[in-house]
Amino acid sequence: MDSDESKPQRRVRYKGTHPKTFKEKYKELQPERYAEDIEKVMLKGKTPAGMHRSICVNEIIDFLQIAPGQTGLDATLGYGGHSLEMLNCLQGEGHLFATDVDPFELPRTKDRLANLGFGEEILSIRKMNFSQIDLLAEESGPLNFVLADLGVSSMQIDNPERGFSLKIDGPLDLRLNPKSGQSAAALLKTLSLEELYQILVVNSDEVYAEPIAVAINNAMERGETIETTGALREIIKNALEFIPKNERIETVKKACTRCFQALRIEVNDEFGVLNSFLEKLPYVLAPNARVAILSFHSGEDRRVKKAFQALYRAGVYKEIAPDPIRPTKEEIFHNPRARSAKLRWAIMA
Ligand SMILES: C[S@@+](CC[C@H](N)C(=O)[O-])C[C@H]1O[C@@H](n2cnc3c(N)ncnc32)[C@H](O)[C@@H]1O
Repeated sequence: MDSDESKPQRRVRYKGTHPKTFKEKYKELQPERYAEDIEKVMLKGKTPAGMHRSICVNEIIDFLQIAPGQTGLDATLGYGGHSLEMLNCLQGEGHLFATDVDPFELPRTKDRLANLGFGEEILSIRKMNFSQIDLLAEESGPLNFVLADLGVSSMQIDNPERGFSLKIDGPLDLRLNPKSGQSAAALLKTLSLEELYQILVVNSDEVYAEPIAVAINNAMERGETIETTGALREIIKNALEFIPKNERIETVKKACTRCFQALRIEVNDEFGVLNSFLEKLPYVLAPNARVAILSFHSGEDRRVKKAFQALYRAGVYKEIAPDPIRPTKEEIFHNPRARSAKLRWAIMA
C-alpha cells in the first residue's frame, strides 16, 4: 500500500479559527476522507479546494444517450465528474477516451477514477490537446459520443500557484499546461500597445481596453515588471481611477476578470484550438454520434454555434440545438460558477 496515500495530510497551521487559503484547507483537499465537511462547503454554494463541480450533468447525460458498448470521448477530463457519469452509462461495456492538457491534475484524476474501478480496460486518458482529436481517433476509431466542457477547472482557478487567481497573489501564468508555451507575464513583455488592445477587445470585449492597455504599456516602458496576478490587478485598478467611487470596486473587479480571461485565451490559443476541434469533429464521429459542448463566454459560444449551423446546412449534422441550454436556477444557486454556461449539441447524420 502507498503509505503517503493512506495517511491523512497533516493539518496546516493557520491563523484564526478557520483555514482561509487554498493550502490551509486540508480537509477540502482530502474529499475521500472528509466527505461530510465537503458536503457542508457545497451546500453553501462553494466549490471545495482541489475539486471541480461538473455543470449541466443531467442535461448532458440525457442528451448523449450513451449505451453500453459505445465508444466516446470526454475532451476535457478536468476532475472527471462528467467522465464518471459517462462511465456509469457504459455499464462496463465499451470505452471512454478522455483528454486534458493539464499535466498536474490529469494524473490525480486518473488515480481517482482508477480507485473507483475505472482502469485502462474501459478508460484511456491521454495528455493531449483536443485540437488533435484526429490523432486520438486513430486510436479510438469512430466516436459515438463526445463532450467538451470548455475553459478552466476549479482546481486551476483556486490554486494561486497556477496563476489564475484574481483574489490571491500568484505568478501571472494562466497556462493550462505550465510546462509548455509562454506565461501571461512573458507574453506581456512581447506585445505592442496595439496588440495588447486588440487582445483585450477581441478575446473579452473589454469595455476599458484602451485605458488598461495604455496603463500596462506605460508600466512596461517604465521598466516595471508585471510578474504576479496582484501586480496586474493593481495596474488595472489604477487605470480605472476615473470611474466614480461608488462604482469603482465592482467595475474594477469585472474588468480584471475580463482582462485575465483575455490573456488566458491568448496564452492557451483557446480560440485557435476550439476552431480546429470543431473543424475536425465530423471526421471522427460515427453515424448518429452525439456531441455536446459547454461554453462559458460569448467568444466560445459564437464559434460553436456557427460551426454547428454551417455543418447542419451542409447536411453533415442532421440536428442541432435550436437554442443553447442553460443551467437551471437551482444549479446556479448551488454552484454560481455555472451561471455563464451554455450547452449546445449536434447529432451526426
Ligand atoms: C471546465 S474543466 C472540465 C471539468 C470536467 N468536465 C469535470 O467534470 O471535472 C476544463 C478542463 O479542460 C481542460 N482543457 C481546456 N482546454 C483544453 C484543450 N484545448 N485540450 C484539452 N484539454 C483542455 C482544462 O485543462 C480543464 O481541465
